[in-house]
Amino acid sequence: MSKLHSLRIAACVAALLATTGLTSQVNAADAKEDPIEEVMNAYHKAPKGTDPVCKKAVDGKATPEELKKLVAGYKKMAAAKPPKGDLASWKEKTGKLLTASQALQKGGADAAAKYKEAVNCKACHSVHKAD
Ligand code: HEC
Repeated sequence: MSKLHSLRIAACVAALLATTGLTSQVNAADAKEDPIEEVMNAYHKAPKGTDPVCKKAVDGKATPEELKKLVAGYKKMAAAKPPKGDLASWKEKTGKLLTASQALQKGGADAAAKYKEAVNCKACHSVHKAD
């Protein structure tokens, strides 16, 4: 990397750090084109002090609009390839997430419990997330 290039990057990072309120834009840039990371950052993670969409969904507090986006996100995620683990397991886990989030949209009685089970972070990360 040229010295000028690294200086430019350093200046850019410094400018970002100096600017507050840019967090969501930084996240969007971070998400690149990977639909899995996109879903994780948009719906499984939230800024400190706020509930991520997945938590709201478990608590029955997600809005119809949020659920719609969640379902769309899981569709993309299910069609993507995980960085680790076998595809059959990935299809099973993401399929459960998709079915459960669609059930939440319909408002089924045990939908929240099913979704909570499907959205188990550790169970999926331990198999499919690279360290
Ligand atoms: C069905 C599988 C699955 C479930 C459930 C899941 N994750 Fe993930 N998550 C992944 C995979 C796969 C990655 C790695 C993505 C990559 O590196 O491309 C990941 C990455 C992440 C990342 C890093 C994103 C990034 O930008 O690199 C965060 C944060 C995250 N998950 C949060 C959560 C939380 C919180 C939960 C539970 C509420 C959760 N995930 C549930 C599969 C899952």
